[in-house]
Amino acid sequence: MTFQTWHNFNSQYVDLNSSTVNWCFELEKEHFPWPWQQSDWQNFTKNNRKYLLVSDEKRAFALWELDNHPHAYLLKIITKPDKRESGIASKLMTLSVDILRDLGFKDSSLEVQVDNKAAISFYLKHSWQQERRIKGFYANGQDAFTMVLKI
Ligand SMILES: CC(C)(COP(=O)(O)OP(=O)(O)OC[C@H]1O[C@@H](n2cnc3c(N)ncnc32)[C@H](O)[C@@H]1OP(=O)(O)O)[C@@H](O)C(=O)NCCC(=O)NCCS
Repeated sequence: MTFQTWHNFNSQYVDLNSSTVNWCFELEKEHFPWPWQQSDWQNFTKNNRKYLLVSDEKRAFALWELDNHPHAYLLKIITKPDKRESGIASKLMTLSVDILRDLGFKDSSLEVQVDNKAAISFYLKHSWQQERRIKGFYANGQDAFTMVLKI
């Protein structure tokens, strides 16, 4: 595993490598239920919003939104199917939380589809707590659970 981290939370950030953006787009397009469009990926570092991206080259990434300090929001986390259940996303989660803590974040939230058993188990394993159910949250009418994490 070779992990990379990138964020634009403060002025010390460098531009995000375009090949990283491209493989995140490809991985998500193939294997994530609600992928961003290519234009979303191409523009996401140019829209004045703040993000943290932690990735394992071509295998997995976690993308966090940092606009509401000290609250972070987990936008997406994904591992390539043939690499799952070998601890990659766990490493991404641990690394992400370490970085968020260093940046002064205190808590985080996410939504997850209620039938996404793998993801819910994953989050519970990493100390996230299930909160409420939001009816019809997803475009296909599926409900979501909100989950929260103390950082
Ligand atoms: C959720 C996801 C990111 C986990 O990635 P991963 O690299 O396989 O996770 P890890 O190997 O680090 O963690 C394994 C833990 O996750 C959970 N988990 C992973 N796959 C699971 C499965 N098929 N069934 C049940 N639990 C599962 C378990 O808690 C497991 O811990 P255990 O091994 O002690 O049982 C991955 O399944 C994925 O990419 N899913 C599709 C994208 C997605 O739904 N993302 C979340 C959207 S909110």
